[in-house]
Amino acid sequence: MSSTRRLLIAGNWKMNGLKKEARQLSSQLAKRMSKANKPAFDMVVCPPYPVMGLVGDLLKGSGVKMGSQDNHAQVSGAHTGDSSATLLKNIGCTYAIVGHSERRTDHNEKDADVKAKAEAAIAARMISIVCIGETLKQRNAGRTLSTNRKQLLGSLPTDANAKNTVIAYEPVWAIGTGEVATPAQAQEVHAAIRAELAGAIGPKEAAKMRILYGGSMKPGNAKELIALPDVDGGLIGGASLNAADFWAIAEAAHQK
Ligand code: PGA
Repeated sequence: MSSTRRLLIAGNWKMNGLKKEARQLSSQLAKRMSKANKPAFDMVVCPPYPVMGLVGDLLKGSGVKMGSQDNHAQVSGAHTGDSSATLLKNIGCTYAIVGHSERRTDHNEKDADVKAKAEAAIAARMISIVCIGETLKQRNAGRTLSTNRKQLLGSLPTDANAKNTVIAYEPVWAIGTGEVATPAQAQEVHAAIRAELAGAIGPKEAAKMRILYGGSMKPGNAKELIALPDVDGGLIGGASLNAADFWAIAEAAHQK
């Protein structure tokens, strides 16, 4: 089913990407994107901070965008080790992942923190990609929808709209595990997220907002996931580190 939502294929490199790998990956993607004939998707890669300058230069003009994996809620100041949305925008980031489950776990980020970060990213004129998702324990306890609802409503930036915000549903048990949500599981949660969004931001905006699936998305399973009515692309970790695999996922989106 075609929708009016522009598909988004986002690569989360996490803590990977030495200069040589980052250079190869960026140039290969830039080359493929430049040659693509009216791609039916937007593409963004989110490298770690040290190679952002390099990646941004190589992607320039190609159509592949750059994003960040996290940003501080403040604009500037005494926050050693952190980067603000303003700094990230200044180096060329146009998307900002916030609230990834690894940050929620490693840095004890709560929904309110994620919301503040998303709002900072939007204030810096970036598109925030707000991540939510249940653990296996929560799923097994029958709390999948309630967990995602709570995270969504707690993390959603004030003034969120379809232009400044993207939601990424990433079941924690599927991240980096090779275990992927079944199409039925993914569609159930995506539809529930859209219904919650309708209540939060109004049905019109909710119908336009992109909801990505993330968690062991690969060339072999991307097509059936992206084909689902409420799945508008993917947030891809492992498979985004290989240009051919990442591009194959994008081609699956092109076929939707
Ligand atoms: P994965 O990671 O594709 O390696 O499962 C997805 C993510 O964490 O964004």
